Amino acid sequence: MPKTIIVSNRLPIKIQREEDKLSYKPSEGGLATGLGSIYKEGDNIWIGWPGLAIQKTKEKEEIVERLTEENMKPVFLNTSEIEDFYEGFSNETLWPNFHYFNQYAVYEEHLWLAYKKVNRKFAKAIEEVLEEGDTLWIHDYQLLLLPQMVRDINAQTSIGFFLHIPFPSFESFRLLPWRRELLNGMMGADFLGFHTYDDMRHFLSSVNRLAGIGNSNGQINVGNRPVLADALPMGIDYDKYASAAALPDTLDREVRYRTSLGDVKLILTIDRLDYSKGIPQRLLAFEQFLEENEDFQGKVSLLMVVVPSRDKVPKYAQLKEEIDLLVGRINGRFGKMNWMPIHYFYRSFPLNALSAFYRMAHVALVTPMRDGMNLVCKEFIASKLDKKGVLILSEMAGASKELSDAILINPNDIRQLVAAIKEALTMPEDEQQRRMHIMQESLKRYNIHAWVNLFMKRLAFIKKEQENLQ
Ligand code: UDP
Ligand code: G6P
Repeated sequence: MPKTIIVSNRLPIKIQREEDKLSYKPSEGGLATGLGSIYKEGDNIWIGWPGLAIQKTKEKEEIVERLTEENMKPVFLNTSEIEDFYEGFSNETLWPNFHYFNQYAVYEEHLWLAYKKVNRKFAKAIEEVLEEGDTLWIHDYQLLLLPQMVRDINAQTSIGFFLHIPFPSFESFRLLPWRRELLNGMMGADFLGFHTYDDMRHFLSSVNRLAGIGNSNGQINVGNRPVLADALPMGIDYDKYASAAALPDTLDREVRYRTSLGDVKLILTIDRLDYSKGIPQRLLAFEQFLEENEDFQGKVSLLMVVVPSRDKVPKYAQLKEEIDLLVGRINGRFGKMNWMPIHYFYRSFPLNALSAFYRMAHVALVTPMRDGMNLVCKEFIASKLDKKGVLILSEMAGASKELSDAILINPNDIRQLVAAIKEALTMPEDEQQRRMHIMQESLKRYNIHAWVNLFMKRLAFIKKEQENLQ
């Protein structure tokens, strides 16, 4: 039976070392949470890194055995690969460049060499399980070279690629010394999916400028092989979040949390620790809101979840310091014995806790400086069973293209953000429900299952086009 092989740098399960033992936890991040609920359908297999350097052969064997039971195949990275490929080229070169944080980007040859080496390692892992008729679905910026590497091994394989982060404009992409190789790597795929139309357009423009290949309706000819690019915004497992919000355990938690927080309106923010998420800017806006609206002091709190992420990368470590200082300053400045402006958690939570947070929040404040999609805002909407609640959403998140009934803001415009917080906190309930209803209907329809089906259909379409040419 032909299978689908999903390949991403991070597996949906991450391994951590707790004292002497290995523990297995769900990974955070939109790629893992989004695909995590569907990959087990059929005879699929997921290849990726389990998130930790493992040295002992015995431990590796234990991990392989445990993950095989769950249809996963680990790719082990050693310490220097983690430093140079993962923290280095992926997250100090590509991530800042693709998110328009070029002042943070480092361009170093040895990181590039590690990136190539680890992409090759993934190609080898694929080769071990690839069989005639299988479909390969490669994900994200850590593996841009992989499509062409697999094509070199087996020219006929059906290869789909999806980019979960923005594809930058040519003016940013051209700054990368290895831009041409990266593009060639991507063009090894048959179908390339992007979250938004702009991302797709930027990719096609780089293909045109760097490889001299024009497109017709997203179709490019790589040699004589037609390749398709399209915009396919990723959805969520809507029913999973809606049903989690109705569980007795979630309601219990909500009551318990609410009792501890007292009678305040809650603004919720949930992100990985990342400079692309605009966390300090958001804190400054909340501070200004409290300063200008004394009547709201004591009546509104920010519940802020920051999930530890990439903490060995210097810019991430610095950001953690900056956030700690800001939260301390704002709480110190406005806090009272019986009211804390910001409840700050630097850790990750399981779905049942997140679900209670989504339920109890009056406002979700999702204000990235740049974000491929942002699934948190979609999960918030799916959890609002009574349709009460307001989403404030950055125009710079891919999700804003679909969720025009949110209050859309430019995260650099602090005045607009302060005004949006006030508008959200005072919005009449019938208006909240009207907006929420529209957004829910659209997210129900374009859920994760629809997304996967559409992706596979587009891939099958372009493979058919290729066959017709032969
Ligand atoms: N998430 C989680 N535990 C937490 C906080 C977040 O599992 O404590 C999940 C969240 O539910 C969402 C994902 O992490 O599915 C974040 O995805 P998003 O697309 O918003 O941002 P990314 O981290 O991929 O940039
Ligand atoms: C984003 C990226 C994913 C990544 C996730 C978590 O969602 O698009 O590829 O897995 O962040 O980041 P991490 O570095 O922990 O894998």
